[in-house]
Amino acid sequence: MARPDTARPIGVFDSGLGGLTVLRALHQRLPGEDIIYFGDTARVPYGTKGAGTVQAFAWQDARFLVNLGVKMVVVACNTASAFALDDLTDRLDLPVLGVIEPGVAAALDVSRSGPVGVIGTRGTITSGRYQEGLARRFEPAQILARPCPLFVPLAEEGLIDHRLTTLACAEYLTELRDAGVDTLILGCTHYPLLKPAIADFMGPDVRLVDSAETLAAAAADRLEAAGLLQKQDNAGRLDFYLSDIPWTFTEVGARFLGRAIDEVHTVNLDELEGAGRLDLSRKGDET
Ligand code: DGL
Repeated sequence: MARPDTARPIGVFDSGLGGLTVLRALHQRLPGEDIIYFGDTARVPYGTKGAGTVQAFAWQDARFLVNLGVKMVVVACNTASAFALDDLTDRLDLPVLGVIEPGVAAALDVSRSGPVGVIGTRGTITSGRYQEGLARRFEPAQILARPCPLFVPLAEEGLIDHRLTTLACAEYLTELRDAGVDTLILGCTHYPLLKPAIADFMGPDVRLVDSAETLAAAAADRLEAAGLLQKQDNAGRLDFYLSDIPWTFTEVGARFLGRAIDEVHTVNLDELEGAGRLDLSRKGDET
């Protein structure tokens, strides 16, 4: 007998391991849900790549999860959310959730008077998606956006308390701090790991909006609204798929997830595509 929709897993994808911060928050928030994580570790980073490339990768990533029978697709990657969320929402007939709107909503909620800062990859900041969302309440001069490309490798290397991270904070964040932002959106999957250093640099009055936490809350709301919350008493199972196993996978994966990952499957999306195994039967795939 087919599984009821409510018992199907949630699919989460990211360009690599950073989205494990989102998975962790999602699992904490919805411990009864089974979750399948796909990290495109063979093609990370997405943050330096153009919109069309990120969109094509995201479409493959999402189809992989849909073919595993997920009930919702969570785009844990900010860059993929910036460039591909609209496309995925149009093309898939199941709920698709990105990180940007929940982050914007949280910032609009916690900011007292602005200005508001947002940091992310070059792709995310160039896309202007956060800025568009924040423009619902703030004038352009009240929105300060800044790419912080070195934060991704610093987080991956685990240089959380390191002086290089302190230097990078000074390099990237001085202008935002001096402008008096009252809220700073951490618009990248990796940045929650650097929260202590960022908070220290920005000072106690600046509220940090963590995209992992805000997305987990939004996912719970969306599942509930769609009547898709797990109804059975279930200890949520986590399954991991990666397109490559990085050399530093064990340490980096554990750092992002907050615990060790015991088993991981590797997949080659190009091979699946070539073998016709990424087709979607429900909606047309015109690629
Ligand atoms: N996952 C990406 C994001 O949140 C960061 C890493 C990358 O550049 O792929 O934007």
